[in-house]
Amino acid sequence: MTIPFLDLKKINLAFKDEILQSINGVLDSGYFILGNENNNFEQEFAEFCGTKYSLGVANGLDALILIIRAYKELGIFNDGDEIIVPANTYIASILAISANNLTPILVEPSIETYNINPTLIAQKITKKTKAIMAVHLYGRCAEMAKIVEIAKKYNLKVIDDCAQAHGAIEESLQKKVGNLGDAGAFSFYPGKNLGALGDGGAITTNNFELYQVIKALRNYGSHEKYHNLYKGTNSRLDEIQAGILRAKLRHLNAENNLRQEIAQHYIQNIKNEAIICPQLPSFKTSHVWHLFTIRTKNRQKLQDFLTKEKIQTVIHYPIPPHKQKAYQEFNHLSFPITEKIHEEILSLPLYPYLEKNHIDKIIEAVNIFEK
Ligand SMILES: Cc1ncc(COP(=O)(O)O)c(C=O)c1O
Repeated sequence: MTIPFLDLKKINLAFKDEILQSINGVLDSGYFILGNENNNFEQEFAEFCGTKYSLGVANGLDALILIIRAYKELGIFNDGDEIIVPANTYIASILAISANNLTPILVEPSIETYNINPTLIAQKITKKTKAIMAVHLYGRCAEMAKIVEIAKKYNLKVIDDCAQAHGAIEESLQKKVGNLGDAGAFSFYPGKNLGALGDGGAITTNNFELYQVIKALRNYGSHEKYHNLYKGTNSRLDEIQAGILRAKLRHLNAENNLRQEIAQHYIQNIKNEAIICPQLPSFKTSHVWHLFTIRTKNRQKLQDFLTKEKIQTVIHYPIPPHKQKAYQEFNHLSFPITEKIHEEILSLPLYPYLEKNHIDKIIEAVNIFEK
């Protein structure tokens, strides 16, 4: 039997009774959009993140798009303005900027963290720069204290892409992601640390004005039925998903803990000169290990070898955003660290309830790989 990269069935069946109870409750209520489950989830998720407000939306990309859109409605961002964003991210971070007719300005990561390198940000700031979008890639909290300081100095907004890092805590600020900038965007895509049984997303903020605008924007631009303040969209978290997320949120800290233990075990036991493991942060809870990504010069050979050993792996991600067809305007740009990461990275299975004998088998296989 192959060890799957991710066992979503197992992860969700762990809470089968709670999930079914919640779905039954929604069925019995006869209320399916923007009802009690969504309201309660928003309150509980805001409490979890430590923010004043949270809003359920349809997915993580919409969460990012709506934050930027709201700043446009507030007259803070305009068409053609620039947002600084990591070159090494999942393309959705960048798509959200383009979708709003703003310009993404890509910045290289640090090879130690894979997250945006704060020392390279200031040189990219122009008169058009309005925000820094931080992404906590693979579950590791970006260097937010430094990013927030730069943003303050240049009077920029900080948008926090938390799609891969639910529950990660910034060490020096002692705050969770989603509560580190002006607004946070979360994805509840099934494979995320907090995953729905379908699409879902959320926005967090402490800013009441921003909250109010996004609340209307996600619902056709209206607070009151048939009274439209903005040319909004339909991007809501449905009651069934909200109920399921409420049930799973109660277990998120424990699950992140399990991820941290597995990651630590991998790092302590993978001993192969051809393999570079991700670095353990000094503060354990600042990484929630959405993905465990190793690097090697001969990635294809390693992936083929692990496939033969019946271990499924995935590449996050094979093509950097600036080399995608969709971004032809960036194809000529060179981001050597981003490109190196995309050429060498490989994700090993890591999820709560991954069995100990499977973890041991993965370590053993990686250790006997010859480059
Ligand atoms: C960093 C990042 N941002 C945004 C998103 C978009 O989330 P969704 O798939 O829910 O639209 C993802 C999803 O994979 C992501 O990894």
